[in-house]
Amino acid sequence: MPIIIGYLIGSISFSYLAGKLLKGIDIRNHGSGNAGATNTLRVLGKGPAITVLLLDAVKGLVAVWIGRWLSGGDALVETLCGLAAISGHNWPIYFGFRGGKGIATTIGVMLFLAPMPVVYAGIVAILTIALTRYVSLGSLLLTAILPILIWFMGYPKEVFWLSLLLFAFAAFRHRTNIVKLIKGQENKIGSKK
Ligand code: G3P
Repeated sequence: MPIIIGYLIGSISFSYLAGKLLKGIDIRNHGSGNAGATNTLRVLGKGPAITVLLLDAVKGLVAVWIGRWLSGGDALVETLCGLAAISGHNWPIYFGFRGGKGIATTIGVMLFLAPMPVVYAGIVAILTIALTRYVSLGSLLLTAILPILIWFMGYPKEVFWLSLLLFAFAAFRHRTNIVKLIKGQENKIGSKK
């Protein structure tokens, strides 16, 4: 039950809702076509992007919190709730299974399960984005570093395996970004494409 709740919460696409509410558009038909905070920045601007980033993260956190609450602290249930929320974000049941790339929701989920690794990986991601202006590169690095930090900092094995799976999710969802990064054609933050 908590896992289904996690998926249903994760399926609430705040970038889609922001596009509809603020401009009457489907954000997935604009910019990169992704239903996420980076594309919200491109299409709707800074304020909506920050709001979407926060809400997409909070829904991940809430999903895991509900998992903890309903299971009485079962690490497997908590991690599965996190996975369900990110799956909902990427493949939302309410919006034709066309969602985002899961980074903000991953941050929310992992902030609950492994806060310090998220802080350290987040610093690396922010520095990468500031230096290269590639959000996708920062996102991929964040998810790549998390399992390493989680492993060395001794978190429960369920949390480690979740972080590894989330790296695979992120790489899969960013596959077109990866090709563009290699070709030097990736959008930089601030560009309108
Ligand atoms: O988290 C999404 C970001 O890494 C890339 O978004 O819209 O540039 O494909 P986008």
